[in-house]
Amino acid sequence: MFEHLNEQPQDKIMALMNEYRADPRDNKVDLGVGVYKDPTGNTPVMRAVKSAEKTLWESETTKSYTQLGGDPAFVSALSNLVLGDAVSEDQLAGAAQPGGTGAIHQAIELVKMANPDATIWLSAPTWPNHPSIIQHLKMAIAEYRYFDNDTRAVDFGGMMADLEGVQAGDVVLLHGCCHNPTGANLTVDQWKDVADLVVRKGAIPLVDIAYQGFGDGLDADAKGVRLIASTVPETLIAASCSKNFGVYRERTGLLMAVSQDPATKKVAQGNLTHLNRQNFSFPPDHGARVVQMILDDPELRKEWETELEDVRTGMLGLRQQLADALRQRTNSDNFDFIVEHRGMFSRLGATPEQVAHMREKHAIYMVGDSRMNIAGLNVNSVDLLADAIVDAGV
Ligand code: LMR
Repeated sequence: MFEHLNEQPQDKIMALMNEYRADPRDNKVDLGVGVYKDPTGNTPVMRAVKSAEKTLWESETTKSYTQLGGDPAFVSALSNLVLGDAVSEDQLAGAAQPGGTGAIHQAIELVKMANPDATIWLSAPTWPNHPSIIQHLKMAIAEYRYFDNDTRAVDFGGMMADLEGVQAGDVVLLHGCCHNPTGANLTVDQWKDVADLVVRKGAIPLVDIAYQGFGDGLDADAKGVRLIASTVPETLIAASCSKNFGVYRERTGLLMAVSQDPATKKVAQGNLTHLNRQNFSFPPDHGARVVQMILDDPELRKEWETELEDVRTGMLGLRQQLADALRQRTNSDNFDFIVEHRGMFSRLGATPEQVAHMREKHAIYMVGDSRMNIAGLNVNSVDLLADAIVDAGV
């Protein structure tokens, strides 16, 4: 049987991670995979996570099953973090998932069950795993323009023009904040226009929010998703805790389905738990429990918010340092867009050859489309990167 299997293309981000690990050079700089690193290059366990884990270790008396949709306290705490009071409880179905990726996969499966003919609209560019999962589930994809390579900002005119092609029942995938891979984000006014378009077209937005708190702050980063959820009749939201709680390997995420009435909510909830049962039965609990403990305990929450804010402002500082270093070297403001971008990533706008040059000559690893993980920098590597960018002729 196995002879019928084909080789699978390697995920580009994972392949880059392996290449970086295998590089023996001491001065190598990892700007590849989207993982936060502190100034020493370590990805720390957040303080509040450690505290919650300790309490959990001391107090947990059973590892028996929770519920198919995960612990309701987690669903409630995380949906509240994402949505605030934008929707009421009787509109909101939710089920815990193995990470944000699990939530995206499950969202597409739900769409397929409801409307297998739907087209899923993706920003060009988007996180490569989006099209990969959708193709795996044999659903149709269309693209909308998103990024202007010249200005390195959102091509909002192009985006809205392309989204005019959306048909009723199609799904429009939007990045809640900190767009991956570009770092260019919609303004609140632009979110309003997108919400209006989606309503007018009778489409369903699927908001992927994986970096809440990494851009302009926890509430500011959720403005778009809250606006969509409170404006559009039916919305899907995939939330990840990997980055903002630093619980990458625990696989902690949530899929939410917002509808208009309790009867629809009940059916949506039943389908979310059904899908969990078919795919993995009960979702992982450890990360979810830790997140819920942090969100529901005022002291732990304060500690987490403080550390998250340090992470956020640290990345903003690195953005400023890099833009300054490039201003100095190029005597221009060509790279000021780096300060305008938000979140972990910025798309530099380099060619694949320039990216390869920076990797081969300067041991700087960024994704082939020139996505840089700003959190992979520190005060020393900012200058190395600025030199490499200039040397590569970007
Ligand atoms: C990334 O985009 O680098 C992260 O979301 C990690 C991943 O799974 O690709």
